[in-house]
Amino acid sequence: MLYTIIRSILFRLEPEHAHRFILQQLRFIKGTLLERLIHQSLPIRPIKCMGLHFPNALGLAAGLDKNGECIDIFSIMGFGFIEVGTVTPLPQLGNVKPRVFRLVEAEGIINSMGFNNQGVDYLVENISKSKFKGILGINIGINKNTPLEKMKEDYITCMEKVYMHAGYIAINISSPNTLNLRMLQCGQNLDNLLASIKLKQKELQKKYIKYVPIVIKIAPDLSEEELIKLADSLVCYHIDGVIATNSTLDRKFVTGLRYAKQQGGLSGRPIQSKSTKIIHLLSQELKGKLPIIGVGGIDSLVSAREKIDAGATLIQIYSGLIYHGPSLIKKIVSFL
Ligand SMILES: Cc1cc2nc3c(=O)[nH]c(=O)nc-3n(C[C@H](O)[C@H](O)[C@H](O)COP(=O)(O)O)c2cc1C
Repeated sequence: MLYTIIRSILFRLEPEHAHRFILQQLRFIKGTLLERLIHQSLPIRPIKCMGLHFPNALGLAAGLDKNGECIDIFSIMGFGFIEVGTVTPLPQLGNVKPRVFRLVEAEGIINSMGFNNQGVDYLVENISKSKFKGILGINIGINKNTPLEKMKEDYITCMEKVYMHAGYIAINISSPNTLNLRMLQCGQNLDNLLASIKLKQKELQKKYIKYVPIVIKIAPDLSEEELIKLADSLVCYHIDGVIATNSTLDRKFVTGLRYAKQQGGLSGRPIQSKSTKIIHLLSQELKGKLPIIGVGGIDSLVSAREKIDAGATLIQIYSGLIYHGPSLIKKIVSFL
């Protein structure tokens, strides 16, 4: 009820402005009534995955807290884990605005942010200041002007900086808003990247005497053939997990709606079935050799269960939180 009122006010603002405004407010609510309102004590539903112990299976997806400025606040909402980022080696502004659009009738969001973030060093500073003791995923990417052949160096740079601070590291090779990035999902580009990342993980494990799982975040727009090949590579290189999926370039489910033709990746309810299908196919191919983190259009307990039934061990939300507020976390975690 309260969130319905807050949402109606926020939705009068331009989407990115609303996003910035709410993050700014969240940073300063410690000890206030608002903090008490969003604090949710949820039942513990322990789950072990990638050698980590999660208090529940529901996490915050990447992109909402790109710079890790509100980790403590998101943690009190009841998430079982939080993923921050995507961050890049150097700070960057991202694409031209406006670059976020709400497709309210469909509960969808289109974004073409282009990895706007304040850089990996700023994220690490924020993590060091946070009191969060739970599982923190750190999602890393590449700077806009990095050519395809040098992209892996950007991931390695970020890995070195975040390794000590991460519960797991997510390698984002699936944003539709960075030129050529998705080419890393296939063929030799993928194999070269996975080989370098695994090598670096081994080196950092020795250095810090700590094993940090590496997961790869993929797009929902891969063909079945590409998906099968990708799954084989993930197994072959002993990758620890896979996040499926990022947003889609497909507009099939929003044709004719206002903003449907805007550039960027579509998220939210319109991608629910598409991402579930990818999880199902992946699960058939992986046969439990590595876990799947399911994300894409979860907006209810039923859609959360569908992801688990399709083969996901953990799940994440982004758009669902925007449209339904923190009570969605409670509904899912309490009854999953
Ligand atoms: C505005 C916006 C920004 C996003 N930024 C990122 C990002 O920086 N990195 C990333 O891996 N995913 C990003 N995502 C994708 C989400 O993490 C998620 O994979 C996708 O939105 C599907 O989940 P949903 O339907 O619950 O939103 C973003 C999504 C939105 C809507």
